[in-house]
Parts: sequence; structure tokens; C-alpha cells
Amino acid sequence: MGKHGDRGGSMTEFSATTIDLPDIAATDRLGRWLGQHLPCPTVLLLNGDLGSGKTSLVKGIGRGLGIRDEIDSPTFTLVNEYVEGRSPLYHMDLYRLNAADVASLYLAHYWDGIEYPPGIVAIEWAERLGTLPPDALLVTFVPAIAGRRVTLSPTTPVHAALLETLTPHALLADEV
Ligand SMILES: Nc1ncnc2c1ncn2[C@@H]1O[C@H](COP(=O)(O)OP(=O)(O)O)[C@@H](O)[C@H]1O
Ligand SMILES: [Mg+2]
Repeated sequence: MGKHGDRGGSMTEFSATTIDLPDIAATDRLGRWLGQHLPCPTVLLLNGDLGSGKTSLVKGIGRGLGIRDEIDSPTFTLVNEYVEGRSPLYHMDLYRLNAADVASLYLAHYWDGIEYPPGIVAIEWAERLGTLPPDALLVTFVPAIAGRRVTLSPTTPVHAALLETLTPHALLADEV
């Protein structure tokens, strides 16, 4: 598993972290690490083509949070809410939605801390959001020769500091 710090050219002042995910097990392992370590609240903006591994990562996050319910793609349900983990998980997929649909969902209720208890908000096809949530962690998947490559781009010092601890060793240490 490779990990490369990448300074400059990014849209934030913080370093992005790029990780090779050679197979689905690697995606699951990263998801579980995120589920165990992400602060609550966190908004994850998941981008990448169909089949790039967004839902797979969220399944791992759910396991890391201690959610035993099966996490399915929310393509038709729009928003899936899971409350049994160490923090709530709100999982949404904007693939089928246009800008007006997205606006009518008032998704900000999931991260403004008023309507819903704070949780981990995971948004597939987040590029369809009209207004980006503040303080989000950007997660972008691209195809790789083997499997996928994912880049995590923090916009807060807290996420940046957490990602400093995301080493191959840390990912393997979470294996049980
Ligand atoms: N790192 C990986 N390498 C190879 N295949 C993967 C990897 N991560 C996920 N997959 C596979 O890709 C397929 C589509 O994944 P999915 O998570 O549903 O994508 P998305 O939600 O982005 O459309 C699944 O069959 C999954 O097993
Ligand atoms: Mg999906």
C-alpha cells in the first residue's frame, strides 16, 4: 500500500493523502479506520465514477463505527440513517438528482447540528451539491492499475492532523 504526501496544487492549505487500494479488502480497511477515528461531526464528500468504491468505503465506515445493520447503496432511498454506532451515520447518494432536487432535500439539516444529532455524513456524488458544507473532508476515487486510488483532502486542522496518523501500519494495526 502506498501513501504519498502531496503538497501544493491542492484546493486547501492542508496536505492531501493519497492511498492505493489494490482490492476491496483495502477499501474496507480504510473505511473501518475512518469509522474508528473520524471525529463527530464529520462531513465526507465522496466523488468518483460509478463503481469506484464510494459505497464500499461507507460500508467499512459503518463497521468501524460499530454499526451491524447492512449498509446498502442509498440510490433509491436518498438518505439512510444508522443510529446504533458510536456516532450516527447519515449516508446519501445524489447520483440521480438534479440541482433542484438536491436543494429540496435540505441536506444541511444533517450537518448544521440543529435538526439531527451530529454524526458522520457520507455523501456520494457530492459534486452535485450546490453549496459545499463547511469543514468537509473530500474523498476522491480514481481507477488504478490494480484496484483504485483514493485521495483524502482535509479542509480543517483536525482532519489534517488525523490524516497524519493514517499510515499503512495504522491500517494494518486495526485488523482483528
Ligand atoms: N479497491 C478496490 N479494488 C477493486 N475493486 C473494488 C475496490 N473497492 C471497491 N471495489 C468494487 O467495486 C465495485 C463497485 O463499488 P461501489 O462501492 O458500489 O462503487 P460506487 O459506490 O462508487 O458506485 C464493488 O463490486 C466493489 O467490490
Ligand atoms: Mg455507490
